[in-house]
Amino acid sequence: MTIKQALLRAIQSLQKITKEPHLDAEVLLSFTLKKRPACRQAGKIWLYAHSEKKLKKTEEIKFKKLIAQRKNGTPVAYLVEHKEFFDLDFMVDKNVLIPCPETELLVEEVLKSIPNSKFQILNSITIADIGTGCGNIAITLAKHLPLAKIYAVDISKNALKVARRNAKKHKTEKKIIFLNGNLLEPLPKKVNIITANLPYIPSQKAKRLNHSPQIALDGGKDGLKFYQSLLENAADYLRPNGKIFLEINFNQAEKIKKIIKKYFPQAEIEIKKDLAGLNRLVIILC
Ligand SMILES: C[S@@+](CC[C@H](N)C(=O)[O-])C[C@H]1O[C@@H](n2cnc3c(N)ncnc32)[C@H](O)[C@@H]1O
Repeated sequence: MTIKQALLRAIQSLQKITKEPHLDAEVLLSFTLKKRPACRQAGKIWLYAHSEKKLKKTEEIKFKKLIAQRKNGTPVAYLVEHKEFFDLDFMVDKNVLIPCPETELLVEEVLKSIPNSKFQILNSITIADIGTGCGNIAITLAKHLPLAKIYAVDISKNALKVARRNAKKHKTEKKIIFLNGNLLEPLPKKVNIITANLPYIPSQKAKRLNHSPQIALDGGKDGLKFYQSLLENAADYLRPNGKIFLEINFNQAEKIKKIIKKYFPQAEIEIKKDLAGLNRLVIILC
């Protein structure tokens, strides 16, 4: 079977289950052929430039298996074991949530909120990323804020293993302290900024999402169990003029504002929308 034939068959069989059958087939075939170019476009160009090349039998079998798994609902990122986030590439496995493009908003807003490099030098800013998963938020911030000290916390030891591997890959392992435990509890010191993309899907809905780890999705009955608990204790872990950045579900803005007002009655609260125009991020200026 040639590359062209393999792609055509895969695209046809993926048409019913994904909005992007071409993209999924191209990424999975590039992965099968061990073509891991810097960007997807380059991978696609390679495939189409070699469309008459014949696949080896082992490659054919591997590709068919990946397409079957994709048809079964497994996200492409779990199959190819990596995902781009912001300007970096992260390793992922079944122990972590795949980083979402919506979460890039959180990173952008944290970077915008830090006035200038002089401020950093004078104050050596500290950030705690709670529920770090594969480390996408903590590592991207470490890359963009060379002087920041970052704590990355997760309750899952397996997720922390992935985060540590990603920190090493991006040469940020010396700037990040990885801590295993519940929410803010493992933090040894107060910090300037808390970031969190904790599980926020209501339990009933999370149960139906079986291709990601439940520990990364299930936020309790209304989805806000973890943010409730984090906000209740956050004042003890923040330095004066601290800031909190929380990713939320699009319909949780009003509920979370009520929780924030209970624990931080004086705080300024901003809700930011993602590229789809949905409420996605809460910024609390304490
Ligand atoms: C929605 S995922 C987010 C992962 C990553 N930060 C991101 O933006 O893609 C939530 C993460 O929170 C972790 N988590 C769940 N409960 C936690 C808790 N009580 N304390 C710390 N981390 C927790 C999960 O293991 C998971 O890695």
